[in-house]
Amino acid sequence: RPRVLSGIQPTAGSFHLGNYLGAVRQWVELQDTHDAFYAVVDLHAITVPQDPEELRAATRLAAAQLLAAGLDPDRCTLFVQSHVPEHTQLAWVMNCLTGFGEASRMTQFKDKSARQGAEATTVGLFTYPVLQVADILLYQADRVPVGEDQRQHIELTRDVAERFNSRYGHTFTVPSPYILRETAKIYDLQDPTVKMSKSAASHKGVISLLDEAKVSAKKIRSAVTDTGTEIRHDEKEKPGISNLLVIYSTLTGTGIPELEQQYAGKGYGALKTDLAEVVAAWVAPFRERTQEYLDDPGTLDSVLAKGAEKARAVAAETLAAAYGKVGFVPAR
Ligand code: TYM
Repeated sequence: RPRVLSGIQPTAGSFHLGNYLGAVRQWVELQDTHDAFYAVVDLHAITVPQDPEELRAATRLAAAQLLAAGLDPDRCTLFVQSHVPEHTQLAWVMNCLTGFGEASRMTQFKDKSARQGAEATTVGLFTYPVLQVADILLYQADRVPVGEDQRQHIELTRDVAERFNSRYGHTFTVPSPYILRETAKIYDLQDPTVKMSKSAASHKGVISLLDEAKVSAKKIRSAVTDTGTEIRHDEKEKPGISNLLVIYSTLTGTGIPELEQQYAGKGYGALKTDLAEVVAAWVAPFRERTQEYLDDPGTLDSVLAKGAEKARAVAAETLAAAYGKVGFVPAR
């Protein structure tokens, strides 16, 4: 079976609808057709300051949400990145194969460091994408299910993998991004020209999966839409309505053309009211399941321990091969 690997940062607390529709939903589906590895990337999280107790809680909360979303530890390997030391070890090697200029061109780094200022920006934030390269290559992943904002990091991964392979002989699978066109970028409900993001200045346009259903419903009812009246998918002319249609369509499995027909002649209000119900019906059981996992930390931690063991078996083998190719003397 082909391999997939993906990761999610634990730091936002609650995942948002963009995380789910853009990535996690695909992770759940790919469990059945792929040998799947999914990581809560706590090493990535500390590239910006984190409160230790909050990080610990957020990491468990992230794992609980992934299980609540449908990851099944019997069908995939779910683990915490810092439990597998090979990530940092391979990252060092990859740091030595990545150009300074190449890393400087990463747009997420440019954006974040511009926002923070040079003094507050860590070297860790700069090499963040290289750690991601290591995450992916360690598992010889064929595909990496992510949202559009991660595409550049996957391209970097491909470039570095090819460079390693051509310098040292074939060692790494060169991975492809797995990005679904429709849900590649879910937009902020208050500003449908920017992606839904945990770092948004206002949370009014961000649907947190752990919000109470009535909070999500209110956010949807107050979503910004254009001044027209027609309910039609048209990203250019109607970004707000298009975003709502994508969310509606993905959560219900109803095609967008069908929705357009269903809402022909009806107003934006009707669409928003119905979508608010659809989202509420999805988040309510999700919240409950997440809470159940949190209430049973013993089980949660043992799922993660088992995941780490399975991940390490694969990661250790790849790291040993890479170390050998580079010219390191075996430890024994
Ligand atoms: P992170 O934690 O920011 O986001 C997790 C996943 O959610 C997707 N996503 C979105 N998709 C569509 N619309 C949106 N508005 C939206 N917002 C977020 C992201 O694309 C991502 O797939 N660097 C990664 C984590 C990572 C990783 C990896 C991913 C670390 N190592 C290895 C893949 C492979 C990140 O910060 O994702």
